[in-house]
Amino acid sequence: MSRITEAHLRAIYDSRGNPTVEARLATDAGVVAAAGAPSGASTSTHEVVAFPTGGVPAALAVFERSVRAKIVGASVDDQAAIDRALHEVDGTPDFSRIGGNTATAVSVATAIASAFERKVPLWKRLLRPGLVGPRFPAICGNCLNGGKHAWGGPDIQEFIAYSTAPDPADSIRAALEVHHRLGAKLHARFPTIALGRGDEGGWVAPLGNVEALELLVATCAEVRDALHLPVHPGIDLAATEFFRDGQYVYKEQTLSPEGQLGFVTSLVDRYELKFVEDPFEDNDYDHVAAFTRAVGGKVTVVGDDLYATSLARVREGVERRATNAALIKVNQVGTLTDTLATVDYVRAQGLANVSSHRSGEVPDAWLAHLAVAFGSLGLKCGLLGGERVAKLNELLRIGAPAGS
Ligand code: PGA
Ligand code: ZN
Repeated sequence: MSRITEAHLRAIYDSRGNPTVEARLATDAGVVAAAGAPSGASTSTHEVVAFPTGGVPAALAVFERSVRAKIVGASVDDQAAIDRALHEVDGTPDFSRIGGNTATAVSVATAIASAFERKVPLWKRLLRPGLVGPRFPAICGNCLNGGKHAWGGPDIQEFIAYSTAPDPADSIRAALEVHHRLGAKLHARFPTIALGRGDEGGWVAPLGNVEALELLVATCAEVRDALHLPVHPGIDLAATEFFRDGQYVYKEQTLSPEGQLGFVTSLVDRYELKFVEDPFEDNDYDHVAAFTRAVGGKVTVVGDDLYATSLARVREGVERRATNAALIKVNQVGTLTDTLATVDYVRAQGLANVSSHRSGEVPDAWLAHLAVAFGSLGLKCGLLGGERVAKLNELLRIGAPAGS
């Protein structure tokens, strides 16, 4: 049982060019492990605070002052004890003193160090009960960006190629094919307009919401025919972001919650969507439940902002039969131990879990291991940009270890 001998926190940058933190731990067995923490833009009101007041400099200062001393000397194998120490030294319900991103970086670096010492891949170190693994997640590839991740795009935040082939090499290939073909279609449609890419690497174009969806739907159908692989359209509405004074305010229309229920249900029926995330604002369990009653037999209905990876919120969701899937983001709760509690509960209740990146990512690959360890139905990690490709490539490595 080796112990942490050194712990450091440094400032690094995320994929939006904003500062975040990376933890680096050394153990008395000579292992060094590092992990960076990502940051969201369309954050849930229910997630922990990423950084204390004062941002990254304040996070570094509080780490020096009080966090390091709590973790140096701790057993690297005792994930729960280290995560408990992070909560104790923080002393708030939302990590607002030390910062949820500091907690995330330290917590994940601990698991990586422990996996190194045991000479097992991270996914095996974290493999959940009942799984013999590896079973690979579908790729939820965000091809077209909107909402807070794209200036000038649709209000719906993400237009997703939901690529469900069992072999990750196939599912990644099909999702990328959708991305590439969609780019060519946009170029043909807007020959004189400079197209952009959004925070998660998807295209940005001056499209309406239904227009964007129609392009995605047609492209997925083409790729299914061309590659004979299952790839279907999905969306993350992140609806809180355009919910104002009790109404959903789109470019084209303004809808009451009842109107939104009818609208999103009609999109599912008309376009055969297979994946729908956060169709209502992040406190509205009732309308999500009505939506799941209507379409949950054929659609993966995912709670992201609704649950914020919080066990208490997912419990409420299960009691109210709100969704059939929960999105999992470590830095919404701050530690792996909290994350595992939510994942285990979700699995025990028969709901699916979907492991997810943030829009401001770091080029780390650990998320791919979490998706495999959690038996995730899907991995949301984007398709383009080094920080997204790092996760996809890691999934390929897990799927086909060197020499196999
Ligand atoms: P965020 O969004 O990382 O900006 O919070 C991602 C999502 O809503 O899935
Ligand atoms: Zn989301």
